Amino acid sequence: MAQLAIRGGPKVVPDGMIKPWPHITEEDKRAVMEALERASPWRYPFEEVEELERAWAESIGMKFTLACNSGTAALHLCVVGCEVGPGDEVLVPADTFLASASCVLHSNGVPIFVDVHPQTYNIDPAKIEERITEKTKAIVAVDLHGLPADYDEIYSIAKKYGLKVIEDGAQAHGATYKGKPVGALGDCSGCSLNGSKCLSALGEGGLFATNDEKMFILAQRARMFGEIVEPGKPREYNAYMMGWNYRTDPLQAAFARSQLRRLPEMTEWRIRNGTYLTKRLSEIPGVQPPYVPPDRTHVYFFYPILVRPEDLGLEDVSIDVFREAFAKVMQAEGVPLRSWQTRPVPAQSLFQYLEGYGKGCPWSCPYTRPGIRYDPDEYPVASDVCRRRLVLGHSTDSFGPPNGLDLMEKYAEAFYKVLVENRNELIDIVRKET
Ligand SMILES: Cc1ncc(COP(=O)(O)O)c(C=O)c1O
Repeated sequence: MAQLAIRGGPKVVPDGMIKPWPHITEEDKRAVMEALERASPWRYPFEEVEELERAWAESIGMKFTLACNSGTAALHLCVVGCEVGPGDEVLVPADTFLASASCVLHSNGVPIFVDVHPQTYNIDPAKIEERITEKTKAIVAVDLHGLPADYDEIYSIAKKYGLKVIEDGAQAHGATYKGKPVGALGDCSGCSLNGSKCLSALGEGGLFATNDEKMFILAQRARMFGEIVEPGKPREYNAYMMGWNYRTDPLQAAFARSQLRRLPEMTEWRIRNGTYLTKRLSEIPGVQPPYVPPDRTHVYFFYPILVRPEDLGLEDVSIDVFREAFAKVMQAEGVPLRSWQTRPVPAQSLFQYLEGYGKGCPWSCPYTRPGIRYDPDEYPVASDVCRRRLVLGHSTDSFGPPNGLDLMEKYAEAFYKVLVENRNELIDIVRKET
């Protein structure tokens, strides 16, 4: 039995074994160089941007798409497309990245949080209806960590109350729900192309999609300063509505277009990695690997693991202390296991202090239902998931290609070494931190 690396033993995952993300090929480089050679003079729209839009529409089977400069922008275009305005409420899962909720604030709407499901960590359909009021306009369904939300259940509620479904697919390109791809699961969708994402523009970027022409037109105007955009017609320089500059550039678009060609292959790779690791971790006490319902696929943008110190006889130890001590021990073994968000979004200061745009806006706005407050205790499942969660695949610690089963095997060995072979050592380390 090897000693823990943190105590001077050999590390399980050798230095240099984990290959970074995004995985850049000669084809990607050629695509960017070609775009660079065409990029002058400046014009709008660039062919590369339009080509990315066409390719995304085709790959997910949606009629209208817009490339923009971030996932947050793409989600805000969804909010605009759904005609969410001052005081309108939008339901958002309590455990997600901030942008799933702040995109609502960007239109002076108000996010109302819903607790998540203990197995999928996505919005819990059983808890949606109790949060609906006469002000509710839409539901943001987030495909968190790379796993699609429960769309059938969400749609049946949305239809009953006349609500729109916005898909936040920022973490889940390539995943499917009942055979349908992420990006095509909402009335409209916003995906991120930020460099860490399963589909990457290397730097920043986003993709909006819908089948609804009116939503598309509103989103198109919002992307371009509120102006009407008509291909082939001279620009009028007249804003018809609130708008922003959410346009993107040809180099990012060319890179993302090139990566999109390999998305199916990259997705297969991620699924193979995740499935293998889950099988191995299911046999090891102290950690809970992610659950994947049989009607959908998980693409493991993050591979989330919930720590369970109670399974190691550590009922009396704080979960936060255990999580951080365990992560440190695993990192010493060469496993980039890190905490992600350790509190639900409604527990963030923005929602606790209701500063918003200043003067309490939009919560103090006359159109907003008075008295909206965010009590973190109302989201016990999200709080528990946040506290217990460690993830593999954070930022450039890639879980995707070219990393394969050899790396997953090393990860599994490290979990076994720490949680089984050296359990008493780990317990000793955790107790010293307490
Ligand atoms: C779930 C989720 N939604 C939205 C976003 C926002 O995307 P971007 O960073 O491209 O603005 C992210 C990005 O991390 C995300 O993880």
